[in-house]
Amino acid sequence: MKLLITGGAGFIGGNFVHRILRQHTEDTVICLDALTYAGNRETLAPVMDNSHFAFIKGDIADRAFVYHLFEVEKPDVLVNFAAESHVDRSIIDPEIFLRTNIMGTSVLLDACRIYGITRYHQVSTDEVYGDLPLDKPDQFFTEETPLHTSSPYSASKAGADLLVQAYYRTYGLPVTISRCSNNYGPYHFPEKLIPLMITRALQDKPLPVYGKGANVRDWLYVEDHCSAIDLIIRSGRVGEIYNIGGHNEQTNLSVVQTIVQALGKSEDLIQFVADRPGHDRRYAIDPTKIRKELGWEPTTRFTEGIQKTIAWYLNHKPWWEHILSGEYKNYDRKMQGEL
Ligand code: NAD
Ligand code: DAU
Repeated sequence: MKLLITGGAGFIGGNFVHRILRQHTEDTVICLDALTYAGNRETLAPVMDNSHFAFIKGDIADRAFVYHLFEVEKPDVLVNFAAESHVDRSIIDPEIFLRTNIMGTSVLLDACRIYGITRYHQVSTDEVYGDLPLDKPDQFFTEETPLHTSSPYSASKAGADLLVQAYYRTYGLPVTISRCSNNYGPYHFPEKLIPLMITRALQDKPLPVYGKGANVRDWLYVEDHCSAIDLIIRSGRVGEIYNIGGHNEQTNLSVVQTIVQALGKSEDLIQFVADRPGHDRRYAIDPTKIRKELGWEPTTRFTEGIQKTIAWYLNHKPWWEHILSGEYKNYDRKMQGEL
């Protein structure tokens, strides 16, 4: 199988590229990534020399470029991870979110419609469902929960999901959609809660917790998300949506305290700062459908996953230090022969 993986130089896409090349040695992977601030070739360094892997720098919203890529490469399966992914950035500057997340998805769908594909998989998010109250722990997002977005980011992801469903209904494109809860693990860009707190705590810098830290997220180790997508693209039913989550709800404050304790730092580093506008209160996924239909189960509990993640950041200091210093952009230029 020849997979086109868009956004494969990012956090989850990068972990997915590694997984496919490790677990499916008969497959070929082409990674298409624009290398925005969130894309990092150093994430793909371990597979750059793999003869089953090719990296192509390009923008999913560039129609002529994407069509040419399809003509030349003729992928069997497309897994779309490419996106602007950070809620806070979408609040400051929504436009790029609409361009990449909606227009980019529409270009990929058109390319699949014109050149043919056996599966288009859209990597979506539980944020399309909005949020749940903090005081109703028995409520969960199911695949039937209505879309009810809060941020420009989640609105752009919901727009993309609706387009994907329209291409299934109108053109019969063989699509699937997955909606996952918050991921954590290796190669996570240090603007998101967990890697931000680990890397700042390691530098003894203040740890900014929004509001009172009472908002709840449902954390899933990234490899478990990747195993779910891997199952969906091979065995999932066309036209279906699958929620992915491992029933691991935590308040933000408790996550930050766990990190501080694990690193032997003082809780005095924690600073309560102004809340995120429109801040979603609680996410919680009901993963019954993917468990019953595809037999998927997460394998990494949070207590284990957070220790593995902290160890990864301790053992891969150059990866995140190059991001903080901007050096990671030079790595890309070196690979292109510009430096
Ligand atoms: P990320 O920001 O780490 O990576 C995004 C990647 O997309 C980067 O490599 C970036 O260079 C690339 N990209 C951005 N714009 C592009 C464009 N126009 N053309 C080509 N490439 C482009 O994101 P992530 O956290 O790995 O998330 C991946 C996907 O999973 C996103 O679609 C996101 O909405 C979804 N998702 C994320 C989470 C999470 O917790 N991180 C949870 C559920 C779903
Ligand atoms: O639920 C899936 C979503 O999870 C994905 O679709 C998004 O791409 C991904 O970024 C993530 O969104 P969140 O907004 O939940 O993640 P973030 O890491 O930005 O924030 C997690 C929680 O921590 C949230 O309640 C806000 C809070 N937070 C975040 C940052 C960056 C803080 O308190 N302080 C911070 O500095």
